[in-house]
Amino acid sequence: MRELRREVQIIQNIDNDGVAWSKENYPRGFTSYGSWDQLHQTSPTFGELEKLLNRHVAKFAEKQQWDLRGGELSMSSCWVNIMPEGAAHSLHLHPLSVVSGTFYVSVPKGASPIKFEDPRLDKFMAQPPRKPKAPTTMQPFVTLTPNEGDVILFESWLRHEVPPLKPGVRGERISVSFNYDWV
Ligand code: NI
Repeated sequence: MRELRREVQIIQNIDNDGVAWSKENYPRGFTSYGSWDQLHQTSPTFGELEKLLNRHVAKFAEKQQWDLRGGELSMSSCWVNIMPEGAAHSLHLHPLSVVSGTFYVSVPKGASPIKFEDPRLDKFMAQPPRKPKAPTTMQPFVTLTPNEGDVILFESWLRHEVPPLKPGVRGERISVSFNYDWV
């Protein structure tokens, strides 16, 4: 984990294209999504992380009862995200992939969770809202608060966001995000 943290800082310092891309697309934060998104191929540390994540993704596929028909789920991209106070990542999905996820490197106290949206919202039309105490699985949004070292996996079509980090959060929320394709 220490090595990952060290490399993330180095990437932020030397990835000028990423800094420029983030300025346009990732206000107040830094992401190498638009520049260095093959870190599992270029860094042995991220390569090690890929090996660990492969096992989690294989279990995920097993739980989904997916028939991979002789193929496999393979990491297609891997990038880093640094979010200081005030940074946010609005609703999005990860087109062209099957499984996406995030590994949490640093999660300061009070840092934002990840929030998933029920993909059926546009079908509900006149449905009354759920009671606030309805079970999590029936809520229109599900919020997960990660701890350092956690991995969160989801199907790539599921829309999600990171709400703005509240003022006063000390330190940066650092994560490694990735996509897996069926190949
Ligand atoms: Ni995402």
